[in-house]
Amino acid sequence: MHATSAAEPTAAAPGWLLDVVGAVPSTNPLAGRLPAWHAVRAETQTAGRGRTGRHWVSDAGGLWLSAVLPCPGPRARWTILPLAAGHAVLTALAELGVSDLRLRWPNDLMTGRRKLAGLLVERFTDTTAVVGLGLNIFNHPAVADPSLTTPTARLADLVAGDFTVDGVAGHILRALARTHTALLADGFGPIAAALNRTWSEPRPVAVTLNGDRPSFTGRFQGIDDAGRLRLATDCGGVRFYDATDVALLRELE
Ligand code: BTN
Repeated sequence: MHATSAAEPTAAAPGWLLDVVGAVPSTNPLAGRLPAWHAVRAETQTAGRGRTGRHWVSDAGGLWLSAVLPCPGPRARWTILPLAAGHAVLTALAELGVSDLRLRWPNDLMTGRRKLAGLLVERFTDTTAVVGLGLNIFNHPAVADPSLTTPTARLADLVAGDFTVDGVAGHILRALARTHTALLADGFGPIAAALNRTWSEPRPVAVTLNGDRPSFTGRFQGIDDAGRLRLATDCGGVRFYDATDVALLRELE
């Protein structure tokens, strides 16, 4: 496929074809050229992309994966995909034995205050979406980038056992396919309800919206059926925010 391809794509999980490449700038645009049910995993990324234009440290030993999912119908129907993909990864990691894991809205996988994984969902065509996942496994992000300020976690420190990066990739691709099937069959409602059960305790947060606006505080109260952040404001009201409008959500406790 690409000049950097190590081999032909392999069947990493039922229904998926996985292409493993060496060092690439970012797996998301590579996957964006592929049809649905293809995925790209890179050994390293030289220009890994995070949400809202941030850099994503992608050193050797982590899982840098982009999976292409079909998105039939109107574009607006799929704005919930980042949260649904977060739910899929949360479930997959819990199955691998990670306890004390939670989703920080909209799609950071956290253990306590440390970040284990992040998702960046991008649309390169009208009919597909690329789910990009960065998951620290055996890598050392803080060593690779000493300027990193976010405390990080690694899968290898959280679960014992004999797993490989490819094995974890296959497990996550299976979970993404299951979630996609559930979305088509039942819509986002059951996933939103499941996520809200994990967020039963309101959490004080500071929210920074896109643009040059001051941040403000409130209590995070989960999501509505459109996946929007539900924020109880300090003045007693409730406001809703779309993920595309929020530059940063900082937890205050
Ligand atoms: C975030 O937490 O800001 C999202 C990070 C997403 C990183 C993954 S790694 C695979 C894919 N390729 C990228 O360049 N970014 C995503």
